[in-house]
Amino acid sequence: MSDEQKKVPTEAELAEMSRDEKVRLGTELDDVELVEYQDRWPVEGTRAEKRAERSIAMWFVIAGLSTVAFIAVFLFWPYRYVDPLSDPQGNLIYSLYTPLVGFFFGLSILAVGIAVVLYTKKFIPHEVAVQQRHDGHGSSEVDRQTTTALLADAGDRSGIARRSLIKRTAGFGVGAFGLGAGLLAIGGFVRDPWADEGADSLQHTDWMKRYQGEKIYMRRSTGHPHEVSLVRPEDIDAGGFETVYPFRESDREDDHELAMALKSGDSAVMLIRLRPGSTPQKRKGQEDFNYGDYYAYSKICTHVGCPTSLFEQQTGRLLCPCHQSQFDVVNTYAKPVFGPATRSLPQLPITVDEEGYFVAKHDFIEPVGPAYWERNA
Ligand code: FES
Repeated sequence: MSDEQKKVPTEAELAEMSRDEKVRLGTELDDVELVEYQDRWPVEGTRAEKRAERSIAMWFVIAGLSTVAFIAVFLFWPYRYVDPLSDPQGNLIYSLYTPLVGFFFGLSILAVGIAVVLYTKKFIPHEVAVQQRHDGHGSSEVDRQTTTALLADAGDRSGIARRSLIKRTAGFGVGAFGLGAGLLAIGGFVRDPWADEGADSLQHTDWMKRYQGEKIYMRRSTGHPHEVSLVRPEDIDAGGFETVYPFRESDREDDHELAMALKSGDSAVMLIRLRPGSTPQKRKGQEDFNYGDYYAYSKICTHVGCPTSLFEQQTGRLLCPCHQSQFDVVNTYAKPVFGPATRSLPQLPITVDEEGYFVAKHDFIEPVGPAYWERNA
């Protein structure tokens, strides 16, 4: 029967039709022939049916419990860095935070998914249908009502109304999952990692001087968080580079601060020594930020914040391994020349003190890393 020959009911006729009639109408209009459409459990209350119900309920309970565990970990597990040398157990507990958050939330998604798939396989009527290919068209009111009727019919015939165990556990599992998902959205307000660091902590890095005249040295990471190894110009060969972190003399005896300085997410800097004769274009207002052939750029990619940890001597480019952004430091002031990053890497103004150590003249003058909502530069 072609589309033109089929009688499409008016809205008034639709309103008069029962759900069964709409289901039949929907299949007719779609040229669907139902070869088989059987309830999964024609005899109610068998032990096999109860077993199927219990297995689905179990997955909903697992989903609920793992979401409760996720919320508990998110809210109460210690998440701040703990120095492994001074407190190995504290460091172990801290290092479990992210894996546990991921594990419990992943498990809750998986469990809800398994429960829904199992319900479909065990209770939604078994259907074998054949449909003729025809041109697609937008949904009409008839399509909408017949499809709704078909779905409602399948839901009813799955026996959901009398399956209180599944309804209760689904309420718990899916409800808890919704709470967990909501917590993710507002997590930063519930547990604010910047709460003790002041409202302007995003506006500066650890290269900022705390008082006039304070020296902020450049320190390399030796693998031992309490060791202080400062950087001098002669430590880097022409064409070489080193990753450096800020060091202040007042932290020398403070193991916690020494370890934290190497963990500070926004302070890592690439100190590069260009080959003699290199004359990169200087950025306006930053003409004196370099010290001879030495240039210091933020290591945090301006795309989405990965470390730009590769320096290719031949091309003079810093490479970010995450999405292959490249920043030209030989010809320009670390301008992006390839990949998704659009901002140059911020340059740290540096010099060498009277004892021959590199020091920062002052903090970066623009935000490091990717854009964030408070940025105005
Ligand atoms: S984070 Fe560096 S290219 Fe994406």
